[in-house]
Amino acid sequence: MPKVTFTNFGAEGDQTVEFEHGKLPFQDHGKPESLLDIAMNFGIHLEHACGGSCACTTCHVIVTSGDANLSEADDDELDKLDTAADLTLHSRLGCQAVVKGDVTVRLPAWNRNYVSEGGGSMNLGDAIPPPKI
Ligand code: FES
Repeated sequence: MPKVTFTNFGAEGDQTVEFEHGKLPFQDHGKPESLLDIAMNFGIHLEHACGGSCACTTCHVIVTSGDANLSEADDDELDKLDTAADLTLHSRLGCQAVVKGDVTVRLPAWNRNYVSEGGGSMNLGDAIPPPKI
């Protein structure tokens, strides 16, 4: 059973989950058994403004161990990642990276701040905090 550890997820802290291949109900966002699909199945908040269709970068994560246990990034994912803030050699889009074995990922600082400032999925306009009175 693959183990996925999500780190740097702000108030949610570090969380490790295990799942059995073929047993998770698909959450209709991103690829089945992608990091996003797994996060959603376990109630872990990972932004996904485009609904998991490789059209934004809000699901950007950095793989800290287990790169080889993820599906290879295709050209669409690599092209989209080129536009991501805090890009690293271990960056992946959570909605596209399918988990094959144990892996640890962390949220880049930009995404963590986006969440803590009240960013909302499916509505990028919410990323702009309301004016302070
Ligand atoms: S949710 Fe938009 S690219 Fe992954």
